[in-house]
Amino acid sequence: MFVSEKAPAKINLTLDTLYKRRDGYHELEMVMTTIDLADRIDLWSRDSRRITLESSSGLVPQDERNLAYRAALLLQQRYGVRQGVHIRIDKRVPVAAGLAGGSSDAAATLRGCNKLWSLNLTLRELARLGAEIGSDVPFCVFGGTALAKGRGERITALPAPPHCWVVLAKPPRSVSTADVYQRLRIHQIKDRPRTAAIVETLKKGDYDQMIQYLGNVLEPVTMSVYPDVRLLKERILRFGVKSTLMSGSGPTIYSLVRTEAQAKRLYNSLRGFCQQVYAVRLLGR
Ligand code: C5P
Repeated sequence: MFVSEKAPAKINLTLDTLYKRRDGYHELEMVMTTIDLADRIDLWSRDSRRITLESSSGLVPQDERNLAYRAALLLQQRYGVRQGVHIRIDKRVPVAAGLAGGSSDAAATLRGCNKLWSLNLTLRELARLGAEIGSDVPFCVFGGTALAKGRGERITALPAPPHCWVVLAKPPRSVSTADVYQRLRIHQIKDRPRTAAIVETLKKGDYDQMIQYLGNVLEPVTMSVYPDVRLLKERILRFGVKSTLMSGSGPTIYSLVRTEAQAKRLYNSLRGFCQQVYAVRLLGR
């Protein structure tokens, strides 16, 4: 049997850290939304319990270090599945970019293997399992738009943002999320995103208000370590965009614009000095 799943990337409309927890993780509040840039995960069932993985990209591990592999293994072990799976990842989402590419691959593998192995688990059950793989995996199991709390695993669905486009610029470097969190000094945070306000705005569907509330407390941390990320944002701001922010722990910088024409214009401008640029619709549902 064969199953194919889309694994869309996410952006953070907001990311706030409340405090550092005893377990070393940070207590978070984030509003995340899916975008129309996705990997494709193809899954073939195997009669033996073997799990194998291949990827179109040499940038991701092809063995048990890959989050998609770990997702299949966890599901197989937890539910005593006697079958295995061959996983093929068609990679489109930039790696280690702040877009949850690896987490989304793991989430898509959970959804796909659930079908392939006829486990009939709910998305909520898959999300709970996904939290054991990574903090962003539960959100990616559901997709859409959501407020994520706790480590990132407590998900409340939100209405999709108003229709708009997102232009992503990925600097030629990868960033370690663990490293960025380690450098974060919570008492030094100056600008916190107004999470409650953006949640209310999403309920009203007001685009102009929504873009005023975008914010990410990790942005100054990543930018202080990697000045090229700050420079990239400054160059984008010079085009007069008012909705530009780093996603997750970075380094990808996104800008929201209302129309396809504006997205194309910004895409063409950014291509002049950044190699990896994408203009896609914000899905949000
Ligand atoms: O959960 P995940 O493995 O994706 O997290 C990567 C790293 O990011 C963790 O090892 C931790 O250092 C940091 N992190 C954190 N607080 C969170 C989520 C992640 O400190 N809520």
